Amino acid sequence: MWNQQERSLAQWDGSVKMAFWRNIAAQLPIVGDPSKIDLVNTGVVANFLDGLPPAAYPFDVDMASAVRGEALFKDNCAVCHKPHNDTIYQFRDIGTDMNRAAVLNDAAFHLFAAGFQASCHDQDFLYRSPTGEEVRPCRMAGEDVITARTTPAVQGYVAEVLDGVWARAPYLHNGSIPTLYHLLVPASRPEQFLRGAIQYDTAKVGYVLDPAVTGLVADTSPTLTIYDRRKDGHAGTGHDRNLVVDGKLRRLDWSGPQYADALKDLIEYLKTR
Ligand code: HEC
Repeated sequence: MWNQQERSLAQWDGSVKMAFWRNIAAQLPIVGDPSKIDLVNTGVVANFLDGLPPAAYPFDVDMASAVRGEALFKDNCAVCHKPHNDTIYQFRDIGTDMNRAAVLNDAAFHLFAAGFQASCHDQDFLYRSPTGEEVRPCRMAGEDVITARTTPAVQGYVAEVLDGVWARAPYLHNGSIPTLYHLLVPASRPEQFLRGAIQYDTAKVGYVLDPAVTGLVADTSPTLTIYDRRKDGHAGTGHDRNLVVDGKLRRLDWSGPQYADALKDLIEYLKTR
């Protein structure tokens, strides 16, 4: 949501480029009726989010550890998680559940494109971007509005910049990984976990998932649900293999006692993003 200036592609599947249109895409499912979309408001919000910083981590950080973690991040993660990275990572690269990326089939593309078009009822609407550029978004068409990622060859996920990542749990496009620890130690990922509890786990970084700790169970708390990774589209697979990117091995799996210190440093650094 925040710091849109660093994100050249949006939506998990990287289908929408321009910030103005991202905002329309976010509003449409909520507003429902495209004729009720407010174009002036869309532009104001797009510009507000352009440089909006994420909220800072609200608990203590061990800064000496975070400094060591920053070096690990640069070596292993920044090659993908960097500003303006418009690469789409496919199943063979990253191995996460492909269901969401495949949503944009031909029929869905035409449905979304028509919805976008219908939201833009004033062809002369002038949008002034934060850099002062003047655009008439309602006169834009086709791929400039939404990219047709309608075939498996072009479907996958963007590697977002990780600012404010402490506040983004549960992780991945489908929220299938409860904490940063579980992301970085793939063998520890639970089959099921509790979603909707707001007790924060400052060691693993994410929300506490153990009902024995939260004292809450899904049956009695209306805001809680059980996330079940065995359901269609819910797999918590992928982002679990070390990969060679730009000629260098990048560690994505930090399992094992030999990486325990490094893992702690990396997580400590991620708190500061
Ligand atoms: C080959 C590129 C690549 C490398 C290297 C990589 N990632 Fe990722 N990462 C991705 C992609 C792509 C996604 C989105 C996958 C999805 O949601 O299905 C992702 C998702 C994430 C997320 C979830 C973000 C969210 O908001 O849910 C975190 C956290 C993350 N990566 C951390 C890291 C860390 C830490 C490292 C280094 C140890 C790393 N990544 C290395 C490509 C990469």
